[in-house]
Amino acid sequence: MSDLDILKNCKRLAILGGTFDPIHYGHLVTAETVLKELDLEKVLLIPSGRPPHKQNVNISDNEHRYLMTVIAAEDNPDFIVSRMEIDRPGMTYTVDTLKTLRRICPKRCEIYFITGADAALQISTWRTPGEIVKMCKLVIVTRPGYDKNGIEAELEKAGIGLDRVVFMDVPALDISSTDIRNRVSIGRSIRYLLPPNVEKYILKHGLYVYMPDKKTAKKAEMIIKKLQKALSQRRFIHTRGVAEESVRLARVHGADEKKAYIAGLLHDCAKDIPNKEKTELCKKYGVEIDKVLAEQPDLLHQFLGAELAKNLYGIADKEILDAIRYHTTGRPDMGVLEKIVYLADFFEPSRRFYEGRDEIKALAYKDLDKAVAFSLKHTIDYNENKKRLIHPLGKSAFEFYKKYL
Ligand SMILES: [Fe+2]
Ligand SMILES: [Fe+2]
Repeated sequence: MSDLDILKNCKRLAILGGTFDPIHYGHLVTAETVLKELDLEKVLLIPSGRPPHKQNVNISDNEHRYLMTVIAAEDNPDFIVSRMEIDRPGMTYTVDTLKTLRRICPKRCEIYFITGADAALQISTWRTPGEIVKMCKLVIVTRPGYDKNGIEAELEKAGIGLDRVVFMDVPALDISSTDIRNRVSIGRSIRYLLPPNVEKYILKHGLYVYMPDKKTAKKAEMIIKKLQKALSQRRFIHTRGVAEESVRLARVHGADEKKAYIAGLLHDCAKDIPNKEKTELCKKYGVEIDKVLAEQPDLLHQFLGAELAKNLYGIADKEILDAIRYHTTGRPDMGVLEKIVYLADFFEPSRRFYEGRDEIKALAYKDLDKAVAFSLKHTIDYNENKKRLIHPLGKSAFEFYKKYL
């Protein structure tokens, strides 16, 4: 059964197309408002294929945009998501979509095509607008109080009568996909701008994150493939979070963003290896296991991680390897990349909240040494509370950094 068979008996329908990169509450409120105001049976959400006006824009993979739309629509039985535009080869034109729908829907079905004010102001440049309005009515959604004179002039220019148009005010939701993408890329919250499951999808798949350049992206892709097998899903999400947070910190502090990205990706590459196997691998790679490490084999993952990065992931850069090697304990007088990964590990977005996290994060973007001092103190206090031994490297790191408190 095609995804559109459900429309065979539909008598009143609206279409909302868009890149949906990502879909957000602005789109959903629009769809719901039109559905109720015009007493429709269904709203068809159609993620676009390659729209002619977005040829030069980098848009996310079709499947991601489709799945996000499906997730966003899943709790509303009146919303249907269609693959018709993303599965159609070549350029996407509204007129073709409408022709397809006209073939599927009953003859008397009333079809409404929802469009925003910006697009409506360019109607005369659409492909065959006259043909479009023969097949459907336009619903032009605007914010309350919007001056419609410009749109009416444009409609006249395109030869579209006002009887083919419905104007509708939609509550002013100042949400845009561009803004959401920008927020993700700089680590700001997107909560309450879109459905929580879409937000989870974005974070899980690392959409909209900053990618340094093609060469690094290729290298990262190879690393990510291996990491997906080596790490639990939660750890993998954390790992990407650390990589991206490291890049943001590197940008602010003038450090090498590419190295920060790779070091962040690999910092926990040995973390999910069972402790017994960790111990064996340490012997193989000559990592010395002292008293504290013997008691807390989990700590081995930083030293072993650096060895695996070198031997399994082909990393030769000393700064990257050191950033991995000391990311948990820290050490006195760390290099800038070491401090960055150490801190990013502390507060990347998927980390659970803990007391002091936001303060350390804010500090890290201003003063790395101060932030390191606070997080070392935080870690030592925490471990002492839990009656855990403190590794000598952690102790000496704190001795060195406490002057910044
Ligand atoms: Fe770690
Ligand atoms: Fe970590």
